[in-house]
Amino acid sequence: MSDTPANLPPKRAVRDRIADVHVPFVYVALAFGVLGGFSLAVTLSAEAVIAGVSASWASHAQVHGHLQVIGFAGIFVVGVASKLIPRFGNGTLPRSREVTAILWCLGGGVLARAVGQPVIPYGPVGSVILDLGAALELVGALLFTRIVLEIMGRAIRDGEPHAIQIGAGALWFAVQASLGLGWLAAMAAGGDRILRSDQDGALLTMQFFGFLFGVFSGVGLRSFPTLFGMPTPSRALGLVGCALTQGGLALWVVAGLLSEPRSSAVGQAVFGAGALVFISAFGFWKRETRFAAASQPLAWALRGALLSLSLVGLLLLTSGLEAAVTGHAVAVRVTDGARHIFAVGVITLGIVGMAQLILPEFASERLVRQPSRARGPLYAAALLSAMLLRGVVPLASLPDNVRFTSMLLGGMFAWIAAGVFAVQFIRARRAHLDYLGRMAKWRASGESLPVVEQPE
Ligand code: HEM
Repeated sequence: MSDTPANLPPKRAVRDRIADVHVPFVYVALAFGVLGGFSLAVTLSAEAVIAGVSASWASHAQVHGHLQVIGFAGIFVVGVASKLIPRFGNGTLPRSREVTAILWCLGGGVLARAVGQPVIPYGPVGSVILDLGAALELVGALLFTRIVLEIMGRAIRDGEPHAIQIGAGALWFAVQASLGLGWLAAMAAGGDRILRSDQDGALLTMQFFGFLFGVFSGVGLRSFPTLFGMPTPSRALGLVGCALTQGGLALWVVAGLLSEPRSSAVGQAVFGAGALVFISAFGFWKRETRFAAASQPLAWALRGALLSLSLVGLLLLTSGLEAAVTGHAVAVRVTDGARHIFAVGVITLGIVGMAQLILPEFASERLVRQPSRARGPLYAAALLSAMLLRGVVPLASLPDNVRFTSMLLGGMFAWIAAGVFAVQFIRARRAHLDYLGRMAKWRASGESLPVVEQPE
């Protein structure tokens, strides 16, 4: 018997046919987040409360940061962007082999860094693993950037703000990976397991506010105004936002590396102002939305993410202006707070909310069984609490044990929310495959589709 699609078991036939480009990325990202980054966030905070901080703690903190920013958020964003950007660009689909190579490079690279960095002092193997990891990440970032520029190139040349932001996000991803390879290799060659703070800070600024913010704001420019019933933002407003965020960010990073705190603070303030320009177009404060009825409760998750982004914009603007006037560098606890408000409030909540709005798995789940209406507000409540406890409370000058206890509580909220989301994604994926399998069977049988009873 020939192995035609009709003879394949329905699930396999379906799996072979549909372009599930994002699925392995989502699994890998959730594994890095739930098993790696969020678990380390909780254990690091607990260790700091009980035993204080040490050299190995600082090295593990850098590993936590990398597992979260690239392993969890980065891999998720790259996977979902590979699925979404054809709609925002020229419609070309990325080649699936290239996308698979990106996943292997980024996944292998993050894993190698997490394993290699802490063991550098114990022999040359740690350095070799770390160098290999950084090199793999660079290849992954370059491949992703190539795909983005190929698909979005024309829209970027036409001056479309959403395309400029997404393209710039991909470029920042590649730039930080190139610098990261050089700096991490030099660190490892010196037998050190903690990256110099100026270099570490520059990489994190590019990862958070270049790469992740670039893609988030680009996708947001195309979707948030529509979802919240706002007029399409004018090109002029979009271009002002692009100029402020990209120009501010370049100044922030370069001046920081040249040890020019005043100019770096100006760059940070300009970036913050640019973020607020984008937010002014999003309309998340409006009561009425254009979400489909079944997705209405998810509006709360997106409102929470955009409220957090407003907080980040304000914090970067005001602390940058203050530092520019006084000539001092922006305080470390403010930088750390802004990063975590963004990481937990914008990125984690944004991932959880947007995934349920746009991924086919959750759309099928809604068709089969309407999820509880409390889901969106509960995610918003858990992750906004985590954001406040991890990002906002530690902004105050508090004793270390109070600061770290607040982080510990925030970490637990965030870890539980991410874990629940992982389980819900796995279940939604099963529901999706079942649903498509049943549809394929009905289609093959030639019967008319069963009528679903609508509730009164
Ligand atoms: C509520 C959950 C979280 C907790 C409790 C937490 C906890 C921590 C702690 C204790 C540190 C070390 C701070 C220090 O050096 O004083 C840290 C650093 C960091 N975290 Fe988190 N974190 C959380 C979520 C996240 C998320 C979601 C991301 C990114 C998506 C992230 C990225 C980072 C980064 C980049 C650093 C800096 C690492 C470095 O110095 O290189 N964190 N976090």
